[in-house]
Amino acid sequence: LKEDALKKVNQAENLKDLEAVRVEYLGKKGPITEVLRGMGKLSKEERPVIGELANTVRAEITRALELKKSTFEAEALNEQLRAEAIDVTLPGRPVSVGGAHLLTEIVTEIEDLFIGMGFDVKEGPEVETDYYNFEALNLPKDHPARDMQDSFYITEELLLRTHTSPVQARTMNEFKGNKSVKMICPGKVYRRDTDDATHSHQFTQVEGLYVDKNVRMSDLKGVLNQFAKQFFGEEREIRLRPSFFPFTEPSVEMDISCKVCQGKGCSVCKQTGWIEILGGGMVHPSVLEMAGYDPKEYSGFAFGMGPERIAMLKYGVDDIRHFYTNDQRFLKQYHNL
Ligand code: PHE
Repeated sequence: LKEDALKKVNQAENLKDLEAVRVEYLGKKGPITEVLRGMGKLSKEERPVIGELANTVRAEITRALELKKSTFEAEALNEQLRAEAIDVTLPGRPVSVGGAHLLTEIVTEIEDLFIGMGFDVKEGPEVETDYYNFEALNLPKDHPARDMQDSFYITEELLLRTHTSPVQARTMNEFKGNKSVKMICPGKVYRRDTDDATHSHQFTQVEGLYVDKNVRMSDLKGVLNQFAKQFFGEEREIRLRPSFFPFTEPSVEMDISCKVCQGKGCSVCKQTGWIEILGGGMVHPSVLEMAGYDPKEYSGFAFGMGPERIAMLKYGVDDIRHFYTNDQRFLKQYHNL
């Protein structure tokens, strides 16, 4: 019996075979268990002899099984080590590096241009008071021009800002009328619009403000001309058209020439040769007054633009929603501009 068992242990090819041998010889129905179970029937003299023999046989088979088992386990471990060995000479997989979003790039570029002209960058809250969003900008309650900017109200006095102009009103207030202000304010704004290729209920603005003694319309024109040429190219010309904003008087809209413009976004351009890119004007005396400036002593200009629109014109993006849906195929085209 012992010989047979040891032979089978030796022949076992894997852990499963071994287990079968164990069950066959040492299991509940195996011969050794049977012998031990039958001990009661033996005579007093036979009992210790048979008992000892059965136990030795069981111990030897167990030892052989364990020895073989550890050999198999060692082999399995070696095999695993071989399979999982790392080849340090293989070339690495490239790590895909993220990049700034196109809008972030554009806003940064606009900021850099204006910083170069001596403007500070200011930020303000996106949840704004009715006072700063409208009233301080010469838009009293019930003013019909409030309709130009359909708003998301949170309470009667709080809303999501509809433009970044309130940051300008806040900054003027901060300086309390005895200091010049030269700042731009980039940020998110919200309007109750139905989203389509050219409208979004949330978009970005960069507005600028310069208040000092003797600031004139020609200063506005000079700054905007500089911006247009640096941003869109030296060959660009600008044109100011009369317009209306409650917080500026006179108000203008600025077009840039687009003779050399190429790409999808330029179809409008080809017809007239001009495309509108921003609004601006001389700060309304009432706005200066409300912020504590004496309009007889101080004057200023302000302007506002939408980076999405500017990016769409510069890169021929045909749908504003591309900026917010974060499709990698769109975004990747503009990495490392
Ligand atoms: N705040 C205006 C808008 O959102 C833009 C603007 C800013 C116009 C400053 C004039 C001066 O429409």
